[in-house]
Amino acid sequence: MKVAVLGAAGGIGQALSLLLKTQLPAGSELSLYDVAPVVPGVAVDLSHIPTAVKVEGFGADALGDALTGADIVLIPAGMPRKPGMDRADLFAVNAGIIKTLAEGIVANCPKALVGIITNPVNGTVPIVAEVFKKAGTYDAARVFGITTLDVIRSEAFVAELKGLNVAEVKVPVIGGHSGTTILPLLSQVEGVTFTDEEITTLTPRIQNAGTEVVNAKAGGGSATLSMGAAAARFCMSLVKGLQGEDVVDYAYVEGAGEDAQFFAQPVRLGVNGVSEILSYGKLSAFEEKAKVDMLDTLKADITEGINFIKG
Ligand code: NAD
Ligand code: LMR
Repeated sequence: MKVAVLGAAGGIGQALSLLLKTQLPAGSELSLYDVAPVVPGVAVDLSHIPTAVKVEGFGADALGDALTGADIVLIPAGMPRKPGMDRADLFAVNAGIIKTLAEGIVANCPKALVGIITNPVNGTVPIVAEVFKKAGTYDAARVFGITTLDVIRSEAFVAELKGLNVAEVKVPVIGGHSGTTILPLLSQVEGVTFTDEEITTLTPRIQNAGTEVVNAKAGGGSATLSMGAAAARFCMSLVKGLQGEDVVDYAYVEGAGEDAQFFAQPVRLGVNGVSEILSYGKLSAFEEKAKVDMLDTLKADITEGINFIKG
């Protein structure tokens, strides 16, 4: 198993790489790529941790070497938010970065499973898909926007609110990854009921949790440690799928398009990525309205990403 992290010297990249060094199966390779000159040092640092995962660092001119033979590529490369910015404000800078990295994947590991973290996820995932389509290498089953941070936040907040063992709390989150496009399905949390007031307080807290971190870091960036944990958790779902285990997880993928062309929903994972897109089930009246209300925003974000490549 070879996993490449693009943007590995950044806040997310370093946290994620540390977790993968300790969690990937023995015999795996971890390939760290960044344009920042510190990346070989990050690889040397991690290589001193005694696990059977080989780590190698690749600088700006070695994207091809970093990607060759990769089974999974995780992308946290790009600019994070500062207070007062929306994720959409990152598009101008991050769209070009994502395009370049997607072209590198086309050239060096077109069959890899690709997990995109770079914001705005609603638009960067369609960019990657369009680059792959243009090259004739697109397989929708292999391209994922990583929305696991919304899921783990929901688990943490629900457990905190209800005094539950967080390890036993599961919260489905569908839609996209910004503001109201993030839709936690609190009506589906097993064994838990919420008052109307709890739902109308908790839903926006989950939707604005990224901003909560951005404001708390006061100009020092956005979520890095929780995102590292979220991406590592999603990567391990991909790894288990590649190893033949039956795994279900949530991700932002291109599906049948009942709601939008790209939509975060439950997917079954296997040796070729998504083996089945699953139904997200029945929504409460509150959730159905929230879904209908946010679809125009999500669709506009998707169109912006597609048009960046199509022109
Ligand atoms: P950061 O600034 O700490 O790290 C970004 C890294 O990307 C830097 O090391 C930089 O050198 C590198 N980079 C820039 N251009 C590159 C290129 N062309 N090729 C390779 N590497 C390149 O930022 P961060 O806090 O790690 O956040 C990274 C991205 O992840 C941001 O866009 C942020 O908004 C996003 N993010 C997404 C989620 C999510 O839930 N999907 C959560 C948190 C952050
Ligand atoms: C998050 O949800 O924490 C990330 O998308 C980063 C951000 O800008 O909020």
